[in-house]
Amino acid sequence: MKKISSNILLLPGDGVGPEVIKEAIKIIDYFNESNVCNISYDNAEIGGVAIDNSNNPLPAATIEKAKNSDCILLGAVGTKKHENNENKLKPESGLLSLRKLLNLYINIRPVFLFQSLLDSSSLKPEYIEDLDIVIIRELIGDVYFGEPRGFDNDNKTGFNTMKYSVDEVSRIAKYAFEISMRRSKRVTSVDKANVLETSQLWRETVSSIGKDYAQVDLSHMYIDNAAMQLIRNPKQFDVILTGNLFGDILSDEASMLTGSIGMLPSASLSDSHALYEPIHGSAPDIAGKNIVNPIAMILSIAMMFEYSFKAPDISNIIRQSVENVLKSGTVTKDISQSKDYATTSEMGSKILEEIKNNV
Ligand code: IPM
Ligand code: MG
Repeated sequence: MKKISSNILLLPGDGVGPEVIKEAIKIIDYFNESNVCNISYDNAEIGGVAIDNSNNPLPAATIEKAKNSDCILLGAVGTKKHENNENKLKPESGLLSLRKLLNLYINIRPVFLFQSLLDSSSLKPEYIEDLDIVIIRELIGDVYFGEPRGFDNDNKTGFNTMKYSVDEVSRIAKYAFEISMRRSKRVTSVDKANVLETSQLWRETVSSIGKDYAQVDLSHMYIDNAAMQLIRNPKQFDVILTGNLFGDILSDEASMLTGSIGMLPSASLSDSHALYEPIHGSAPDIAGKNIVNPIAMILSIAMMFEYSFKAPDISNIIRQSVENVLKSGTVTKDISQSKDYATTSEMGSKILEEIKNNV
């Protein structure tokens, strides 16, 4: 194994963020101690905690550190205290600005089911057994960032602009086709082309990029139908390619197929930066109770080993260890069907023990 050397930035953020980051660090520390890696890490603030301390959800010091790190691990952002702030002082705007600043236009959200959680999903087992989808979500365009936006008419009207350019759609479409070439060569592009011009351009552009990938079976689906099909017959999907807003919604929906939103990791990439975070949010209602499921965060570091460090052997060890722990019956509160469950730190430690047995 080649020794991995890297410097990463930790952005624990709000709510359950710090608790899940802590479990990820236990694993990174172990890989450092056992000489597999030499990963140094620094900390910075983002979200509500940054607003409290510097009145800015993305302070300049955080931007500086983020730009200089090889990759970023983020816990979560979002607090009740700041949820009614004006947009630029909302915790979420820290994350959105960071994505934009680092040009993280590719968001990869794998949706897969651990066999031992087959009964935890609200769907019947036969619909989800061996489920393995990847959602490729465009992350820095669309109605999230389109201008103009704001309030008008004495605050009696609110407006946002849904917008995509051919270039923005082309680069994310290429990425999705490339991923699908390494999988089962099926891409479903999701839009709302029966109503929206943005989506008509999206569809045309994706089709035109698709011509360079003749082996890939490309289909198009409207978002409303896709939301329904994902529950009706999720295994029809392999790679789902979609825009920022539709991807946000579909990925939350898809996470429930796997039993809990606490299970799913994500990677956000540009050509030079990478950020890894669980897809779940800050969950303020359960924060500080040592009950959040750390698996999404731990699987996010598995993605970091795969995408940033090109060490698929280590990411496989992490994934396999998660699988083994789940198989042994250890589950956190979100998944447990009884009063018995592992705490956040117990789950992290169990997975770490399993990793030690597998390295
Ligand atoms: C996500 C989150 C974010 C988003 C929020 C926190 C701004 O829901 O990463 O899915 O909407 O993109
Ligand atoms: Mg979301």
